[in-house]
Amino acid sequence: MRSTIIAIGVFLLWISIKLWYTEAVIFKLTNAVCESYNESWFVIHQCRLRAVNRVKITFNFNGIVLHPANNISVNGQIFKKANGYKPWVLKASIDVCRFLKKTYNPFAILVFNLFKEFTNFNHSCPFMGPQIVDGFYLRPELLRLPFPSGEYLFEITWLFDKKPQFATNVYFVFTEDL
Ligand SMILES: *[C@@H]1O[C@H](CO)[C@@H](O)[C@H](O)[C@H]1NC(C)=O
Ligand SMILES: *[C@@H]1O[C@H](CO)[C@@H](O)[C@H](O)[C@H]1NC(C)=O
Ligand SMILES: *[C@@H]1O[C@H](CO)[C@@H](O)[C@H](O)[C@H]1NC(C)=O
Repeated sequence: MRSTIIAIGVFLLWISIKLWYTEAVIFKLTNAVCESYNESWFVIHQCRLRAVNRVKITFNFNGIVLHPANNISVNGQIFKKANGYKPWVLKASIDVCRFLKKTYNPFAILVFNLFKEFTNFNHSCPFMGPQIVDGFYLRPELLRLPFPSGEYLFEITWLFDKKPQFATNVYFVFTEDL
């Protein structure tokens, strides 16, 4: 009996710390800039943020692959603002087709886990037709990294056959009001 009450107490304490913590963290998108480098292979129709409320800003993307892409890779890099955006510790080059068969690279897995439920591109290669991100937003509870507060830019360049085809660059802020 006593241990049940203690367990419930600990649980309630944990919930309130978690709620308070989540409230105190701001982790939101602030801008999105996309660009196609080869409109005969990838056309971008939409790359836009929408403010659902003060803290929930969604990213919506719609682009079309015009010919099947079998050989896809990404270069991802995070920049942190300090007199302009400077390269920050997280950087990765990922073979997307290999990754989708069997995930690898902890940074890529983290990003993919944030994104995958909002997209139609969590399938194996090849890629063809509309590529959609619908209503994606950042959730602090999914962030398992000790991020310093700041303004960030996450640049992703997408390559087909090792040649850059388009870029999806999103800006976000992370603030911990503790
Ligand atoms: C642009 O896309 C076409 C396919 O439509 C492809 O054949 C060509 O190699 C691409 N060019 C570059 C520089 O990636
Ligand atoms: C893709 O995402 C959908 C929705 O979350 C899920 O049902 C499906 O199993 C996923 N497919 C893969 C290959 O992960
Ligand atoms: C992807 O394309 C590049 C350039 O054509 C080639 O060197 C590389 O071997 C290809 N990778 C795979 C897995 O087919």
